[in-house]
Amino acid sequence: MKNFFQSLVLFIKYSIYSDLKTCDFPFTYKEKEKTSQEKILQELLFAQYFNDSIKDSEWLKKQNFTATKGAANYSLLFLIFSVLQNGRPNNVLELGLGQSSKITTQYANYFTDTNLTILEHNKEWINVFKNNLIINNNINLVNAPLKKISINNCACTKYNLDNILNNDNKYDCIIIDGPIGGSQHYPRTNVIDLIPNNLAKKFIIILDDYERPGEQNTANLIFKSLKENNIFYKTSTYYGMKKQLLITSFDYEFLHWV
Ligand SMILES: C[S@@+](CC[C@H](N)C(=O)[O-])C[C@H]1O[C@@H](n2cnc3c(N)ncnc32)[C@H](O)[C@@H]1O
Repeated sequence: MKNFFQSLVLFIKYSIYSDLKTCDFPFTYKEKEKTSQEKILQELLFAQYFNDSIKDSEWLKKQNFTATKGAANYSLLFLIFSVLQNGRPNNVLELGLGQSSKITTQYANYFTDTNLTILEHNKEWINVFKNNLIINNNINLVNAPLKKISINNCACTKYNLDNILNNDNKYDCIIIDGPIGGSQHYPRTNVIDLIPNNLAKKFIIILDDYERPGEQNTANLIFKSLKENNIFYKTSTYYGMKKQLLITSFDYEFLHWV
């Protein structure tokens, strides 16, 4: 009897902690569409998590965020703060300038051993929004043009990175919230071109707007590319008014718990 219970405990432990990819009985539940009420409640909860987390932060001193409309929502702001605070990446690439950049720039300004590159296609937006930011030498705010591409015969846009990104650069944190891609089938696919050569061994990828079918298609392309390059990864999701996908290497597994 004792042996039976010991085996049962081991079985449960193994089921929980073993890599699901090697499990013969993977979970196959389909996530239910969230109601507006659930989204609002989660958003408020993340606003609370975020505001509590940044209190007394040594590096996020300016705390004026406007998490409305097309800008980052609170689950994204929380997630970005949390991965920077706990993961301490040192080469960050941010796609899409906005509220999120108030966090990333303050991070780079405080941790001067880090580099931050922000890509933004809209020159007017850069000119207006950069007044909110302090851009030190280790921060590169780049006006990257857009280019039209076709994926599976679907027209999409992405940043044209020719002559912009250094091929030797290895990013350990990539935050994907641009360019605007609401109605596209495969939006925001620049990250695919960065795998594997420009992705550090220990990495964090955040994909915003993961509630949208287009971003889910893009996520599947990311998974495919990581698998083809034998890069193991962990995923989890966060949601408030919008949803985010967090993908990390195994050595950043703890980020999925904070
Ligand atoms: C989804 S937004 C997100 C940008 C950023 N990550 C944030 O947290 O706000 C993506 C794009 O929308 C555009 N954008 C964002 N806010 C804008 C505004 N208030 N006015 C005009 N364009 C805006 C920018 O071109 C930006 O790259």
